[in-house]
Amino acid sequence: MVRLFVGLRFPFLVQEQLHSIANGLPGATWLPPENYHLTLRFIGEVDNGKAEDIDTMLLQIQAPAFELILRGVAQFGPLESAHSVWASVERSDALYHLRDKVESAVVRAGAEPDHRRFTPHVTLGRLKYSPPDRLEQYLSYHQGFKTPPVPVNDFVLYSSHLGSKGASYEQLAVYPLQKP
Ligand code: 2AM
Repeated sequence: MVRLFVGLRFPFLVQEQLHSIANGLPGATWLPPENYHLTLRFIGEVDNGKAEDIDTMLLQIQAPAFELILRGVAQFGPLESAHSVWASVERSDALYHLRDKVESAVVRAGAEPDHRRFTPHVTLGRLKYSPPDRLEQYLSYHQGFKTPPVPVNDFVLYSSHLGSKGASYEQLAVYPLQKP
């Protein structure tokens, strides 16, 4: 069995820029920069046969390369009991287009449809008992966070390995997007 998800990876300079705001919040466990990604579709545990079917379907996706701007920071959960902080993404039709294609490919490969709302984000840190006032300060301090346009030239099938120090991610396959 493998635990899979499909996501976008980021160039080194963007990882560095994200990493530069991953500090100064008590209760946060920050992700290592090489783990930053944007999940297009969480799949979960599948057997190897299903993983191959998913790979075959993802290979057939044709979608244009695009640019994405990461902008602002937010949290999941109420301020008092937030469980993660993340960098947000500027509205991008191309991102939603790709996400829809990935969703239908994965469903064609036999996965259950995902009806949850897509909230594109890049998790920076997981939170445990972060004081709400400090979280509020953190969010307001970094509200102006913005990357230059980030080229998205491919997407990735990841496997996730859960360990005592958090998850580590392995790139199983990379699927190129079409250059204009
Ligand atoms: P997160 O960063 O907000 O936790 C691998 O676990 C990736 O899939 C993470 O980016 C995680 O989002 C995302 N994901 C989405 N749904 C998930 C779920 N039900 N369980 C674990 N991870 C999930």
